[in-house]
Amino acid sequence: MSTFFCSSKLNYTFSNEDGNVDRELLPMHASHVLIVAGSGSRLCHFLEKKPKKMTLIDISREQLWLCDLRLELIRFASYTEYLAFWGIGDTVFTPKERKDIFEKLGIQEEAKKFLRKVFEENSWESILYTGQWEKTFAKSAKWVRRVLGNQCINTLLGFTNINQQLTYLKNGFPRSRWNLLLRAFSSATFFSSAMYGKEFPKMNVSENYFEFFKDAFERSFRLCPVRENFFLQIVLLGKVAHSEALPPEFRPQVFDAAKRALKECEIALVQSELVPWAAQFPNEFDVIYCSDVPSYFKGPLARQWLVSLRPSLKNNGKLIARYYRNVPGPADAGGYLNLNHLYRDLYSKEQTQVYYFDVLQKVETTHG
Ligand SMILES: C[S@@+](CC[C@H](N)C(=O)[O-])C[C@H]1O[C@@H](n2cnc3c(N)ncnc32)[C@H](O)[C@@H]1O
Repeated sequence: MSTFFCSSKLNYTFSNEDGNVDRELLPMHASHVLIVAGSGSRLCHFLEKKPKKMTLIDISREQLWLCDLRLELIRFASYTEYLAFWGIGDTVFTPKERKDIFEKLGIQEEAKKFLRKVFEENSWESILYTGQWEKTFAKSAKWVRRVLGNQCINTLLGFTNINQQLTYLKNGFPRSRWNLLLRAFSSATFFSSAMYGKEFPKMNVSENYFEFFKDAFERSFRLCPVRENFFLQIVLLGKVAHSEALPPEFRPQVFDAAKRALKECEIALVQSELVPWAAQFPNEFDVIYCSDVPSYFKGPLARQWLVSLRPSLKNNGKLIARYYRNVPGPADAGGYLNLNHLYRDLYSKEQTQVYYFDVLQKVETTHG
């Protein structure tokens, strides 16, 4: 089992995947969806699709505990309180208000004990950016500011129009300083030492780390103004400062729909490895949402995971995966219809531009 993902700490608290893409990929009214829990930031936009049952799986119990907190908040809090609890917007909770709400939530006891400690260590301020991933970016954002300068960052955040941004990128952006930053941050050692240790996936999508990140950021900067892009704000500022860029869970329609759907949805939280756990349930899931977990598979699991997960899907059920720097397994495992051609446009708008996607549909074969 991975030591990085089971570190007894929260590794992810905000969102490092573009929820706008996942939101389009999940079908309405599924009877049972299995999703990798992570930070729980995708809970709202998955609940919005009104599944009858949702199982959240993670090898990290701390991540599941954070999901428990998010679920209880969706159940208990109003939209305004939800924002205030996470420290978003103009009316954020004081530490005392946050503590009072937290103590009222029906979170299971072990989770409550752990989360109480996390809040205490943060003086009951919001814990939205306290995961290891978020802290790493908060640290690197300080370097980004030092090297690019305040003026450059403020200019980038000021554009409301993509054409103005493109002109600046061409004529005013300090490109050689940006490349210097990319060289430092894209080196395998930076994120290895900061986060993943030796478990950082070996890249197989490009020969060169610097080129991979240079191209990804180039595409990302061309998509939309920085003030609408959550990932570029995380990179430049260490947090999302403009509400246009907030992930779907912080939008009123998404939150309200999730709150209504949660009343009807059966939820299960499971601490386990994704593939062996799912394999116990034949023909069970309409959707298995893998996040980028497969990128971390090694050895036989990396070759077999598609074959192993297929029996757990219902016929026509979908397996949704994203990959970060490492696409494992055979491109065609057999018994799946590749639906990527339907989503090319959607993938191209993904804000981080560092992920590859697969949407695969189980099809019956003559041998089952
Ligand atoms: C792979 S990480 C990547 C972060 C992800 N992009 C997110 O938004 O949370 C997602 C989650 O998968 C969990 N995880 C990693 N390997 C797993 C496995 N083999 N089975 C189940 N969960 C796993 C991690 O603990 C983490 O919470």
